[in-house]
Amino acid sequence: MASTCSACSQYPRVLNGVLDESDVRHFRFLFKELAEDEWQKREKAAKAEGRAPPRRVLEYFTILKRLQMEPRDDKLWSIIQKLYDTVEKNFGKGFVMQQDFWSWRSQGQVAAERIHMDGDFWMTRGNDGFNLWILLDHQGMGHSFDIFTQGANPGLYKMLKLPGRVTSIVPSAVNEAVPCFLFFEPLRLWPVLFEFQNSLARSIASCFSYCATSWFQLILKAHLRARERLPLWLLRSFTWVFGWLGNLYLLPSEEIRATRFTLDVGDALVVRQDELHVSDQEPLQADQHRLAVGFKFMRQAPVRQYIFTGPASKARRRYQGLRMPWGSMLQDVYRTGVDMNLNVDPVPLRWLLAHSSVRYG
Ligand SMILES: [Fe+2]
Repeated sequence: MASTCSACSQYPRVLNGVLDESDVRHFRFLFKELAEDEWQKREKAAKAEGRAPPRRVLEYFTILKRLQMEPRDDKLWSIIQKLYDTVEKNFGKGFVMQQDFWSWRSQGQVAAERIHMDGDFWMTRGNDGFNLWILLDHQGMGHSFDIFTQGANPGLYKMLKLPGRVTSIVPSAVNEAVPCFLFFEPLRLWPVLFEFQNSLARSIASCFSYCATSWFQLILKAHLRARERLPLWLLRSFTWVFGWLGNLYLLPSEEIRATRFTLDVGDALVVRQDELHVSDQEPLQADQHRLAVGFKFMRQAPVRQYIFTGPASKARRRYQGLRMPWGSMLQDVYRTGVDMNLNVDPVPLRWLLAHSSVRYG
């Protein structure tokens, strides 16, 4: 199995001072307006109904939406152009921004609990995409989340099917003396049906997606149960016989070492397309927190396949303008504009899509 992405391995790790003070201030303001106020509303509603407050998960595409809104946010438009200039200077021409997200970490709040690669990168056949993850604010947390670099984990990356396969590790508690599974996430051509305006085609796609994720869930559950009940030698045999049915392989836990990178406010961490990563998860003090904004860059290329299990790809499908028919080129939506109206799918269809996620715990 090939194990490295030669283009990504040359990328810088941290770009210092990508945003200046006024840019950072503007993003903090946007974070409050676009994400934090929404979270607080949801938390208040949950409290009023006696429910546990919902987790502050990654929020996608709020900046793209803001760019389309009136009054025009000239400062934001200028920051986006500045990021494009930074990318061209450091990575060369041909990359387009494809996603934005907020990343918030505080006591009890973990943005991404599962060790994963970002599935959306694999929509094209390119393997040299990257995220810029820019630190905006922190208290006692001037560092990145956990990255499992190829350099620190040669054994792990030898087991991966790179370039070309999105991989997760389940469960993510790699510091415990328990065996973990590698999960090669399914990439398929058929979710192209999602991209049609025709609701029959979209219904068929949603049914496929629901059935496929249910199948993966079933196999994963059986393996997690087997891991609890079987001795290691028997678990190995079980996984060898049945694991391939769910793209699952046993991973020796001693292979995994996480690295964190030091950052100042305004610095951008570069996360490479084929790097496994996860939010840091140790308990925090009440006043500790960290805010970052992320942007995904991919080389402009035709869409060839889709991942259908991840939250980011589902977030993308909620917007009419972000549906990309098979074979179409990635659009430069952050500079040209895009229709960010929500899809108006019938309720059963939306239900199917909402329930087409693999739960990894
Ligand atoms: Fe990620």
